[in-house]
Amino acid sequence: MSLSVIILAAGAGTRMRSLKPKVLHELAGLPMVEHVYNTSRALGAKQVQVVYGHGGDLLKEQCQHFNVEWALQDKQSGTAHAVQQASPNISDDDVALILYGDVPLIKAETLDALVENVSGNNISLLTVNLDDPTGYGRIVREGKKVVAIVEHKDASAEVKTIQEVNTGILAVRAGYLNECLSKVGNNNVQGEYYLTDIIALAVSDGNEVVTTQPEHSFEVEGVNDRKQLSRLERIHQREIAEKLLTDGIALADPERLDVRGELNAGNDSYIDINCVFIGEVNLGTNVNVGAGCVIKNSTIACDCIIKPYSVIEDAVIDKKTEVGPFARVRPGTHLKENSRVGNFVEIKNTELGENSKASHLSYLGDSEIGKDVNIGAGTITCNYDGANKFKTIIKDGAFIGSDTQLVAPVTVGKNATVGAGSTITKDVEDEALTLSRSPQKSIKGWQRPKKK
Ligand code: UD1
Ligand code: CA
Repeated sequence: MSLSVIILAAGAGTRMRSLKPKVLHELAGLPMVEHVYNTSRALGAKQVQVVYGHGGDLLKEQCQHFNVEWALQDKQSGTAHAVQQASPNISDDDVALILYGDVPLIKAETLDALVENVSGNNISLLTVNLDDPTGYGRIVREGKKVVAIVEHKDASAEVKTIQEVNTGILAVRAGYLNECLSKVGNNNVQGEYYLTDIIALAVSDGNEVVTTQPEHSFEVEGVNDRKQLSRLERIHQREIAEKLLTDGIALADPERLDVRGELNAGNDSYIDINCVFIGEVNLGTNVNVGAGCVIKNSTIACDCIIKPYSVIEDAVIDKKTEVGPFARVRPGTHLKENSRVGNFVEIKNTELGENSKASHLSYLGDSEIGKDVNIGAGTITCNYDGANKFKTIIKDGAFIGSDTQLVAPVTVGKNATVGAGSTITKDVEDEALTLSRSPQKSIKGWQRPKKK
């Protein structure tokens, strides 16, 4: 018995007040539908189909990397009609699981339990008890037995008092699903084909409806507007923060952390407020990340200190290194053990050797910098001639005086010293002092120009 998932995503999402299809709005840096897709894959689904309508081209373009089949629902005639655009493509004996592109936080564990309950032609239905069930389809029972789902708009006053509601998520053998769907009509207040009508059909066929509930009600919350989306974002972030705390990572404030991807961190690492982690970020043990840092797809080894407001992307930082405050570490950077990149330093596609320092106000691009090098304040590697990029090599033990321009391609030799304010256009010898300044002179009695 294989699993086949149908993700409903044809809704227009007018309440988002957006040109973008609703399911492309992002939660934790990923479109809502991508969370549902990833969960489907985590369940080991053999087939995933997305039912789309509104904004189809944009949806397909942004979800190119999904391994799914696309099913068009050109007119929104209800959830049963939506499912029918995809369910005939499923082998009869596979289990069909219906998910929603705008219900992003559903957990794989919850769905595993739901799918486990499918046997024969019974329907496995996910329900939840809500303090305020307004708007939802109500689960109508006779004794313990589920007999129907009645939509809020079709419900009597008595049915409206029922707090157990339909989440919309269900699993059933595909062959039987298709048999039921062919019998669903649209004789209801909204004139729609309701997926929920298959419950009463199954009951009249003598099949059982088995219910399970999620651990948390946020798992089944749908998003209709930006307020609901931001609420789920905070819930999701809070969960990530709690997991980090449990795993031994200190957070200055779990309410002020944003992880948009995967953050792994070793014990005793500390993250101050308002940091954003994007993509895959790995922190070793005892890494200290200051307030307001943005770190994307990077690895930072043990005992590093990342001072406030640093931006780091696609970089590798070895142990005991210090970065910031206000540093920009760009893609292709490798900072080796015990090195320093200080305030207002931009470093790109550069290897900075062990114990080397660029402490203030520099641009280092396309460079290979050895160990024990000191880069003075205001040093600039002129790596670009307007058409091509060139490399700067600085060998071990070199000292680059402040306000030096290194016009690439250029090599500075081992233990060389470059005098402050030099413009270096030719290779610099090992062990020597090189400078390109004109000698200082004074002109006595010189007058500044005066305003006419
Ligand atoms: C549906 C359920 C209701 C349940 C609620 C949970 C039905 C008839 N009702 O009601 O019992 O309590 O969800 O949130 O199923 N969609 C399509 N094509 C359509 C219609 C809907 O793709 O033609 C998609 C929507 O994009 C949305 C989802 O299906 O993601 C639910 O549709 P919606 O119209 O919001 O159903 P509800 O009235 O909320
Ligand atoms: Ca809805």
